[in-house]
Amino acid sequence: MHAFEFYQPTAITFGPGTEEQAGAKAAQLGAKRVLVVYGGESAKRSGLLDRVLASLEEAGLAHETFGGIHPNPRLFQVREGVQKALDFGADLVLAVGGGSVIDAAKAIALGAANPEGDLWDFWLRKRPVERTLPVGAILTISAAGSETSDTAVLTRDDTLVKRGLGSSLLRPKFAIMDPELTYTLPPFQVTCGVVDIMMHTLDRYFTSVTGNLLTDEIAEGLLRTVIACGRRAHQNSRDEQAMSELMWAGSLSHNDLTGLGAPKDFAPHQLGHELSARFDFAHGATLSAVWGSWARYCWETNPARFAQYGVRVWKLDPAGKGEDQLAQEAIAATVDYFRSLGMPTCFTELGCGVQSEAELEELARRCTFYGQRTIGTFRVLGYEDILEIYRLANH
Ligand code: NZQ
Ligand code: ZN
Repeated sequence: MHAFEFYQPTAITFGPGTEEQAGAKAAQLGAKRVLVVYGGESAKRSGLLDRVLASLEEAGLAHETFGGIHPNPRLFQVREGVQKALDFGADLVLAVGGGSVIDAAKAIALGAANPEGDLWDFWLRKRPVERTLPVGAILTISAAGSETSDTAVLTRDDTLVKRGLGSSLLRPKFAIMDPELTYTLPPFQVTCGVVDIMMHTLDRYFTSVTGNLLTDEIAEGLLRTVIACGRRAHQNSRDEQAMSELMWAGSLSHNDLTGLGAPKDFAPHQLGHELSARFDFAHGATLSAVWGSWARYCWETNPARFAQYGVRVWKLDPAGKGEDQLAQEAIAATVDYFRSLGMPTCFTELGCGVQSEAELEELARRCTFYGQRTIGTFRVLGYEDILEIYRLANH
């Protein structure tokens, strides 16, 4: 087991009606002026936003709203939000939404606490994260795990570069998680979330360090639970047990617990980010579209790992089978599962059609930050590898 640090400071309040505690939670942190950040219409339509504002008023907190955050949030919107936070004198940023809204709120909080200089420089690693305003999150979709993660992912509108910034200071101070808030999700968003939750664990499970028994058990148990509940949630987004399990799994999958003691891989995430940046696809859909190709390209690096995944997560019967066969069956089971949820498993299913070789090369170049990095740790991938994986998905 590698040395690790695990810091998870987010206070989690889970259960029906817990959004009504938003005001009290913010007040406990000493907040007086709260900027409430939300997305399109969903939080308004459901009445959630009004309930949250009422809770802030009840706690005696001044508030201002900043809505319209685009899925795959854009830097220009965040800059506007920073200005609003500064004009209002916000001392806490409260996100009401999913990963996009929470990431935007994290970025606004960072910008408001550091008004000098260019905000994007944090994402370029030119400025260290040393202070930020506190962030609270009221989660409305189980997916990105941003409610407890240390990450904020933004897309630059001008260059279409999508980048994540990680810092323990970016973890929200509190997360309010009421599974009933997710009942209004369209089936496609539910299943995008299922894929993303699985992938946050898979992108840790396929790593260069193995032998972490407890971490493996946690990861495998989470995956089995998400697979089973994902099927039910796909059929019925008001299945209380399934939606509750998915919500809790979404946080656990991305708060680092499922990969402790080993380096993260996250190559499929990086491959997917380029597709979101280029075509603005939903994050989870980009992951299912590339994962099978990534796995088919990489499994031979450690067939035993894929075989273990197949036996323990997909309950494949190992009798009479070697590791190679089990590994390939495990990949097929995963891809079949994505397909059974209506999720894309290649570029045409994703919706961008078959891409030209020149387009694939540009995607691969961008994924290497134009030759500045490799991706992944399970198997380290350079430009040629990335290009080949995009080719495999290009049908
Ligand atoms: O904007 P509204 O109207 O709220 O609609 C949203 C949006 O269209 C809708 N939605 C959310 N809750 C709803 C609802 N519709 C009906 N009822 C509800 N209860 O769902 C759509 C997607 O929302 P979004 O926030 O974009 O989804 P998600 O949570 O998947 O977040 C995706 C973003 O998070 C980033 C992704 O790259 C992407 O930008 N990620 C953030 C991570 C992190 N911070 O740790 C890690 C992830 O790997 C990921 O990269
Ligand atoms: Zn993700």
